[in-house]
Amino acid sequence: MKKKHIILGIETSCDETAVSIIQENNKDQPLILSNVVSSQVNVHKQFGGVVPELAARSHIEKIDLIAKKAIEDSNIKLGDIDAVAATAGPGLIVCLSIGLNFAKSFALSIKKPFIAVNHLEGHALSPKLNYKINYPYLLLLISGGHSQFLNVQGLGKYKRLGTTIDDALGEAFDKTAKLIGIEFPGGPKIEEYAKLGDKNFYDLPKPIINRGGCNLSFAGLKTAVLKISKKIKSHQDKYNLAASFQKTIEDILCKKSKVAFKEFKKNNNIKKKYFVIAGGVASNKSIRKKLIDLSLKEKFEPIFPPINLCSDNAAMIAMVGLEKFKLGLFDSLDFPPKPRWPLDEKATFLKGAGVRL
Ligand code: KG4
Ligand code: ZN
Repeated sequence: MKKKHIILGIETSCDETAVSIIQENNKDQPLILSNVVSSQVNVHKQFGGVVPELAARSHIEKIDLIAKKAIEDSNIKLGDIDAVAATAGPGLIVCLSIGLNFAKSFALSIKKPFIAVNHLEGHALSPKLNYKINYPYLLLLISGGHSQFLNVQGLGKYKRLGTTIDDALGEAFDKTAKLIGIEFPGGPKIEEYAKLGDKNFYDLPKPIINRGGCNLSFAGLKTAVLKISKKIKSHQDKYNLAASFQKTIEDILCKKSKVAFKEFKKNNNIKKKYFVIAGGVASNKSIRKKLIDLSLKEKFEPIFPPINLCSDNAAMIAMVGLEKFKLGLFDSLDFPPKPRWPLDEKATFLKGAGVRL
């Protein structure tokens, strides 16, 4: 019988220390044998954002314990592991180095290959842990550091269709939350507040909504939220602002997804069209509902990873590791951490003042 390969994945690109072990499962999706995530929310809360030095310190303190727990939970022996995969970028260099060095030493000690993984590719392939999806597919990646539409043509083959020209969507959620007085990371709480408010109470701007293809922009929206937040008095005002913000984001994502559908169809003449939505913000239930409705109307099959696999985790890193392992794509032990590592290396950098769309 063919051996079902086992991959250990490690993720330390930002403020989650995570280790997971997955096993190949013939034609079906891989089995997640263990998936341990230790969040540093309590370390960074008092500073209102991730402090790199503290994040790195916390990864150092926890990585071996988390790895030990992942191995114990999986009920496998060290010798069963076929390769060790770790996030090599993009992310905070001090944090990346810890997971990367741990993975390299571990791979060396068990005499198995090491595989460097792009964190964004982890998000891009995360739905493959639960669904069978064929390439190519359209991906909307919405996380704390990235917001992009991509044509996923294959493993390592990405064509960027659109990107944010300023803030990432998760960042916009977190900043709005901060202005309303919600503790870091406030993104998920905005969704809760929004349920209690009137979504039509504030008329917020939708930057570049009618131009710039499926590129996105959230900075003007943030400025509008800042102005309103200075005037709000009651709890109800806060709920109304959260609801109006949530609705504005949904409108922007629906409009821009429609543009992305067109772009995707122009480049791919295929019958079964998937629309994958991944990254931390994809756990927002209201966004999920809106994008599911839109996709079905436009004849795309919407695919979301389960909520626990939307935010940072190591199962998605192991997933990329497994796909690379099957193709014999191993990396050498001098693979460097890459704080900046775009999925589509050919796409032009579209951030900052002076960007013309
Ligand atoms: O993918 P992720 O865990 O980390 C990055 O790679 O960035 O995404 C984290 C981001 C944070 O900005 C967080 O506030 C946001 O995802 N987020 C949400 C929700 N859950 C997490 N934003 C809106 N609604 C949510 N339910
Ligand atoms: Zn992420």
